Amino acid sequence: MQAWTPSSWQHHAAEQQPDWPDADGLHAALKTLSSYPPLVFAGEARSLQSSLAQVSAGNAFLLQAGDCAESFEEFSANNIREKLRVILQMAVVLTYSMGVPVVKVGRIAGQFAKPRSSATERIGDVDLPSFRGHIVNDSLFDAGARTPDPQRLLQAYHQSASTLNLVRAFAKGGFADLTRVHAWNQEFVASSPQGRRYERLANEIDRALHFMRACGVETESNPALSQVDIYTSHEALILGYEEALTRQDTLTGRWYDCSAHMLWIGERTRQTGGAHVELLRGVGNPVGCKVGPSMEAPELLELCEALNPSRVPGRLTLITRMGADVVEARLRPLLRAVTDAGHPVVWACDPMHGNTFSAPNGRKTRHFDDIVREIDGFVRAHRAEGTWPGGIHVELTGENVTECLGGADAVSDTDLDHRYETMCDPRLNARQSLDLAFRVAELISGTTV
Ligand code: PEP
Ligand code: CO
Repeated sequence: MQAWTPSSWQHHAAEQQPDWPDADGLHAALKTLSSYPPLVFAGEARSLQSSLAQVSAGNAFLLQAGDCAESFEEFSANNIREKLRVILQMAVVLTYSMGVPVVKVGRIAGQFAKPRSSATERIGDVDLPSFRGHIVNDSLFDAGARTPDPQRLLQAYHQSASTLNLVRAFAKGGFADLTRVHAWNQEFVASSPQGRRYERLANEIDRALHFMRACGVETESNPALSQVDIYTSHEALILGYEEALTRQDTLTGRWYDCSAHMLWIGERTRQTGGAHVELLRGVGNPVGCKVGPSMEAPELLELCEALNPSRVPGRLTLITRMGADVVEARLRPLLRAVTDAGHPVVWACDPMHGNTFSAPNGRKTRHFDDIVREIDGFVRAHRAEGTWPGGIHVELTGENVTECLGGADAVSDTDLDHRYETMCDPRLNARQSLDLAFRVAELISGTTV
């Protein structure tokens, strides 16, 4: 194997890269990016890796959640706050019911690039480059809008920086206070028949909070109860962007991709000899890799070996996205092979990407019940193999959209047009997300909450 450098990926085949027509503009944008400050500090990536090591050992749970694709247009404090609110609400439910810490990682502050099944899109007899996320082009079907524009790399950086700034403020500034998050959960429980199923769990949390207060523990004055760590992550797809933000840590001398705390490799770019694996194998961040239904054990072991040859716990998260019907059967041999090879990975379940279909009106959607069914199959496979179902990876928004079917408010086919706002894949809305957290709590703790 050749020595790794931040640019060694350039000698490997790179899937899913945009065709930038303006080579000089691209070069200039990447040069500017390389001169900008890192978005995260290497020490934070190391803290996340230690927390993920706890997940891999079965002592913590990973909640990775956020947009399929962040948007340059839907960029507001409101949007960020509502997304964080639902992640915090889910985390409280999961922490209480499982009795372990929940490691919170957003698909946020950098999740701008999308892999596509086809490089071009045809409408009528017009062919244009496919929409690849706002870091590359615009979704409007128009030649100008679809032309990859290197200035967007800089805009993605700036939007990530402002988003991260607000995420940090919310995480540490009082917004995440346990009493407040619990009050939001109680509103959900009180406001729908589905929600009322979870009354018992909500009441238990209530009693626990009262008990602590009676003992003199005020959440406001206790950082462990009023502040949280929220980490950022995105798919490391656009390699030039990731390289430009890959920096040498002055404390350890190691290289880190400072565009986010955690980076993952998508299902379409996980070729063992490919450029994406090459770039991420050399950075010190915790990394993830999507694992779809076609994955066989020998290939998965090669990937584990490439991305984590020293078998460092917490370094590698395998995000399985099999589809509800096949997850149990496909996953079991992989769990066995990875365990037998001694790889201390985090196993997370993405119940979204294997369960997408088109509704009669043509909208891409997912059914809440399939999402729950995939997590159920994931948990069953882990139970059978004696491994820890370490986490979930979901696409959600804090807004009251109608993109996925079913859930607390029984969104139906005919509701999909009401608020279908996603830039890419259908997301769970706030109430569906919370409903899911309660369901996952039941599945993993093995009881009815
Ligand atoms: C995604 O996470 O949005 C995605 C494209 O997933 P996958 O690579 O698993 O298809
Ligand atoms: Co998606």
